[in-house]
Amino acid sequence: MDASHFLERRRGLLARMGAGVAIVPTADEKLRNRDTAFPFRPDSYFHYLTGFGEPEAVLVLVGGDDPKSILFCRERNEEREIWDGFRFGPEAARESFSFDEAYPIGEFDGRLPDLLADQPALWYSLGQDDAWDRRILAALNAIRAQVRTGRHPPPLIRDVRLELDAMRLVKGPEELDLMRRAARISAAAHRRAMAACRPGWNECQVEAELLHEFRREGSAFPAYPPIVAGGANACVLHYVGNDRPLADGDLLLIDAGCELDGYAADITRTFPVNGRFSGPQGDVYRLVLAAQEAAIAAVRPGAAFQDPHDAAVQVLARGMLDLGLLAGSLDAVLESEAYKRFYMHRTSHWLGRDVHDAGDYKDGGEWKRLAPGMVLTIEPGCYVRPADDVPPAFWNIGVRIEDDVAVTAGGCEVLTSEAPKTVEAIEALMAGEGVR
Ligand code: GLY
Ligand code: MN
Ligand code: MN
Repeated sequence: MDASHFLERRRGLLARMGAGVAIVPTADEKLRNRDTAFPFRPDSYFHYLTGFGEPEAVLVLVGGDDPKSILFCRERNEEREIWDGFRFGPEAARESFSFDEAYPIGEFDGRLPDLLADQPALWYSLGQDDAWDRRILAALNAIRAQVRTGRHPPPLIRDVRLELDAMRLVKGPEELDLMRRAARISAAAHRRAMAACRPGWNECQVEAELLHEFRREGSAFPAYPPIVAGGANACVLHYVGNDRPLADGDLLLIDAGCELDGYAADITRTFPVNGRFSGPQGDVYRLVLAAQEAAIAAVRPGAAFQDPHDAAVQVLARGMLDLGLLAGSLDAVLESEAYKRFYMHRTSHWLGRDVHDAGDYKDGGEWKRLAPGMVLTIEPGCYVRPADDVPPAFWNIGVRIEDDVAVTAGGCEVLTSEAPKTVEAIEALMAGEGVR
């Protein structure tokens, strides 16, 4: 992404802050075992403001009449670069990413008291990371110790995440472009999984098809651990074992999306392992699809965040009664929330850099109103565990259908539309017809 986008975001945050200093560190490298680290992923807030992908870095924004943005990062180091690869170093980072100033990360603690002294506010994510909290408090105490020289620490600490969450909630065109690409790659991965799947395969073999597609299209890693859940495993909402054989006659639920340049896709599709829905599987599937379509139809500017959920629940509750999963009147089922036995999660969450993205869901106690540029998932489901009072034909059927939608001026754009979801389209693809 062009450095100008990050510069614009830093200016946007400075405008929201007014006077004061913001400190936004990137993530720490985390050890996986002994001397081997997990793959590094920058902190989402830090990367949103900088585009800078190296570990051991922190952004300082100084607001007021003469605003500036300062990066602290690793120095060049020939020895380390031979082993671990290229580092920008402060000077090249300043130029490439349009910072006003840049210094070695080793100078951060020494320079911080001067940056914070006599500022009206500190904007920082207190409580997010113990080690960073201690560094910041040490700087505040260092200033406090100089009180007889007339210096004061900022009297106010504000949570910088609140402003950043509001900014991140509405995506810019360059962010939507990346999210479209992440969605297309993820949809292709789901098509690949559908085309490859066959009875007798293991869940892990289908997962390998997804990962193959993500990686070869340039995604660094999945946006979250993929769920590849055959048969009864589909009724375990956070199933990630992905190591059981797939039986002829079972459904397979796949919840998987890639991360591309820091942005997530989040898609669920459910399809028959053998390529043909049985009668009861088709009944539940068509019900969830109808609920999903009703929810998508409710996404438009001015609608409340809760409207798609309410639309999905109406359809699901009606269908659960029609299928004999529930008894009573529709009003009673909605009132008592009896549908939660089979649909126990929510229909949507914000989507962006994080799969469950930043952004409030309510404003002053009221559900947030949707506006162009917001991106949310639409993911109703129906999960039927065996029980004496449930018709056995539906036992162990678990269905979820999840798309990513961007709110537009006229309604919404389904970013993930290239992943087939009608019974007919899925069966045709699995029979070797149609688009792969
Ligand atoms: N894949 C996580 C979710 O659907 O919320
Ligand atoms: Mn989701
Ligand atoms: Mn999902």
